[in-house]
Amino acid sequence: MRSKFIAGNWKMHTAAATARQLASSVVRGLGAEGRVKVAVCPPFPYLALVGDVLRGSPVALGAQNLYPEKEGAFTGEVSPAMLVDVNCKYVILGHSERRHKPELAESDALINRKIHAALAAGLHAILCLGETLEERQSGRTEAVLLAQLAASLAGVDAPRMARVVLAYEPVWAIGTGHSATPDQAQQVHAFLRQWVRETFGEETAAALPIQDGGSVNPDNAAALLRQPDVDGALVGGASLNADQFLAIVRVALP
Ligand code: PGA
Repeated sequence: MRSKFIAGNWKMHTAAATARQLASSVVRGLGAEGRVKVAVCPPFPYLALVGDVLRGSPVALGAQNLYPEKEGAFTGEVSPAMLVDVNCKYVILGHSERRHKPELAESDALINRKIHAALAAGLHAILCLGETLEERQSGRTEAVLLAQLAASLAGVDAPRMARVVLAYEPVWAIGTGHSATPDQAQQVHAFLRQWVRETFGEETAAALPIQDGGSVNPDNAAALLRQPDVDGALVGGASLNADQFLAIVRVALP
């Protein structure tokens, strides 16, 4: 059985002091609870200090991006090995804020290189996928997701796929207060899992965690997490408040 996985995407929020406080509150609130997997993903400058706070706790550390090279003249970039070095277990890749901001405009091809680099370094990748409102309204949701899946995961084999988490984050739900409905989420998650089944086999598909994301909060989490193919949540806004984040974690308990 897949255990639920709740990850907090802090985005470009917090300062050193608030990052430390937030991580401490999550650690304290979670205690020794091991039935739900929990991770927090702070901004790069706070990874090490949050890692110190998490040490010895069941809360894992994740980063929000990486650059797909081992090392070299890449001013301003962060390598997979650096993330491993500061004890990151996870890295969020393909977030829509990086795909769609025109000045970042990450392509599936770049995301694919990042996925390979992350997996080669031993990281677990949280691969974000999702359609825009216009794509949904014009009936292209599945086509868009298929294209994102096929291109972002090109060349990944089944053993490495075991370290990939999918996060379905419809762009229209992120930061808008309008999460996907439980039915919408279930439909897409089942579709994603079916693609993984056809591509990597039943064992990989059955073990794959698929998180839901986009305005997940303590009020809508229960109904979402009750869906058979919703295995957790990638939480943005609500992860910046320890009480709200922990309330979502509690909802995910078996
Ligand atoms: P949100 O963000 O929960 O604030 O909508 C989710 C995400 O972008 O990962």
